[in-house]
Amino acid sequence: MSAVAGTPAPTGSTGIVRPEFDLADPEFWKLPAPTRAAAFAELRRLPAPVFFTERPAAGRRPAKGFHAIVRHADVVEASRTPAVFLSGPGVTTPEPARWVRALFGDSMVNLDDPRHAQLRRVVSRAFTPRLLERAEDDIRRVAARLVDEVIERRPEDFVTDVAAELPFQVICNMMGIPQEPRRAILDQVNRASEHIGVERPPRSRIRIPGRGLRALARMQGMVAELGRERRRRPTEDLISALVAADVDGRRLGGRDLGAFFSLLLVAGVETTRNALAHGLHLLSAHPEQRALLLSDLDRYLAGAVDEIIRHATPIIQFRRTLAADHDLNGTRLAAGEKVVLFFGSANRDEAVFADPDAFDITRSPNPHLGFGGGGPHYCLGAHLARQEMKVLLRELFTRLPDIRSVGEPELIPSNFDNRVRSLRFTFTPPGADAR
Ligand code: HEM
Repeated sequence: MSAVAGTPAPTGSTGIVRPEFDLADPEFWKLPAPTRAAAFAELRRLPAPVFFTERPAAGRRPAKGFHAIVRHADVVEASRTPAVFLSGPGVTTPEPARWVRALFGDSMVNLDDPRHAQLRRVVSRAFTPRLLERAEDDIRRVAARLVDEVIERRPEDFVTDVAAELPFQVICNMMGIPQEPRRAILDQVNRASEHIGVERPPRSRIRIPGRGLRALARMQGMVAELGRERRRRPTEDLISALVAADVDGRRLGGRDLGAFFSLLLVAGVETTRNALAHGLHLLSAHPEQRALLLSDLDRYLAGAVDEIIRHATPIIQFRRTLAADHDLNGTRLAAGEKVVLFFGSANRDEAVFADPDAFDITRSPNPHLGFGGGGPHYCLGAHLARQEMKVLLRELFTRLPDIRSVGEPELIPSNFDNRVRSLRFTFTPPGADAR
């Protein structure tokens, strides 16, 4: 294991030996994926979670830190005990600045009950079976058009031209966003979320958030305006349902709508895009799994999608803060302490998954935590994401059966999402020779 930081030392309360790598150090997240996977395997073998100290920013704030929750059973328990493991203090690492939340409102991922339950009920009520049925027809239409364009234009990058387009267009169609501002919104999503990664050149550290936040404010203003318009003249889109849904006397106001749309864009577009890109690469790197999938798409597609999500784990981690002392499978955690739930590590837990590093589309059962560990914050879009992936992979492999990635994906180091910047790909167009 190539060490990143620190020398072995006892970890205070637990008394166990500290490993030689540091999950709180951005350098750790630049290590090759197999090296990081080996580090998490080492953490899973230890008898208790290890505490990692974060460095104070610019020497001003006091050092903070977190217990790394790396086992499947522990991630599940923390996720399903929301009264103790709070999301309200923030789920991302590092935490967003307070003024950002004050200005843009809270999205439900950062709320606890009763506000979380209230908001989630309003949103769940708006996701009617009729809306989801229409979304499924739309996914099929958008996927078919994307594959038409791939055949016609033969783009080189699978990420921007194929994988990102599908979830983005589907969410915009669901929300009823007009065509005109869509390109600018997508550019904005790509820019605003780049700074979540750990690879930040010094200049962009200063520039991107400022520019990104202005664009975000414009986007949220636009969605709030659409909300006012739909309240006057409702249509069949999600915004109309959100402003009309009245649960416990509550409906979404302009600020809530803006925050929800931003959450959908980041939570729903980035994740699905990265899952699809990892999916094409995994199926290209494992020809025997690909042959099996193509031998019977009806039989293997659903399993392949879940195995892609387990293996790639698009969202690496979420943070929680303890509201009270709690024994997590034998370890005493104190009120006020933070834990980070590492979904990727849980998805490779040898106690749950046989041969966890293998990519096996027939794995059954496959109780992965790619959409979270259960509990009230479980991914709202899990069904939609699975549907998008199934429809696009079916369309691609049916019409372009030899489609495959070329070389390795270009990854963006990040402690938050397993992000692919670009992935080259090739295929034989229908009725032509291989290129
Ligand atoms: C492969 C694609 C996706 C993955 C891997 C993924 C993963 C996740 C994860 C890990 C969480 C946190 C769960 C927790 O804390 O227990 C989450 C929450 C969420 N996801 Fe997804 N997601 C995906 C697609 C989507 C899509 C397409 C949408 C939009 C419709 C969406 C909307 C949300 C929302 C709104 C939340 C917050 C729920 C809450 O706090 O109550 N996700 N997702």
